[in-house]
Amino acid sequence: MKFENEGAQRYFDQIPDEWDALYSHENWLMYRINRLLRPGIYERYAFTFERCQPIEGATVLDIGCGTGRFAIEFAKRGARHVVGIDFAPAMIDFSRMVAQRMGVADRCEFICNDVVSYPFETEFDIVVALGFFDYVPHAEPVFRKVAALRPQHFVASFPVHTFLWGIQRHIRYRWIRRVPIFYYTRGQLEGFLQSAGFLRYDIVARPHALLLHASCRER
Ligand SMILES: C[S@@+](CC[C@H](N)C(=O)[O-])C[C@H]1O[C@@H](n2cnc3c(N)ncnc32)[C@H](O)[C@@H]1O
Repeated sequence: MKFENEGAQRYFDQIPDEWDALYSHENWLMYRINRLLRPGIYERYAFTFERCQPIEGATVLDIGCGTGRFAIEFAKRGARHVVGIDFAPAMIDFSRMVAQRMGVADRCEFICNDVVSYPFETEFDIVVALGFFDYVPHAEPVFRKVAALRPQHFVASFPVHTFLWGIQRHIRYRWIRRVPIFYYTRGQLEGFLQSAGFLRYDIVARPHALLLHASCRER
């Protein structure tokens, strides 16, 4: 299969353990270091669970689910059915293993595929895409795809390009890891949301990210 961002697929397929250390308390020191150095990760986690209410009985889609930590947390908080999708096979294997360990595997489904081309067949109450759009060269079709799923809540994060942060990300991702990364402005996001047919939205600016909460349903 050919992906729009081959570099991201290759890179994330190699790092499930490293990525999961952001969430797992098994290596306590690494977890504390990550909390200090990457506060944005924990901020978007808190934002997601604060905005996506109610969870009890909901159906959830986690786009670019990585090691499944958001998907699994939704299942633990009472979601009826949770689907996580990621194009990195190692991330999907890891997600299945964690879901099993946490005792929620019966309510979780993990699909190894490209979000851009995958034909979703059902609607979802909640759709989340955290740390995903950084690797998407064309976000507008993904917004249309999400709108077709008619979510009550759509929560997503978008990195912000600031001078120093932008340079260090460029070196870390583009130069060292050969992973193309992409940025979207607030104006672009508003255009995508409006043309995709979202009924309302809120975009919150944080130091390194824009956090989006949107809805396709009447209140
Ligand atoms: C930075 S990780 C974030 C993982 C998770 N959402 C989290 O916040 O912990 C981004 C994930 O998106 C996945 N991804 C990026 N583009 C994708 C695409 N087009 N289709 C499926 N997965 C994709 C990558 O494989 C990676 O696991």
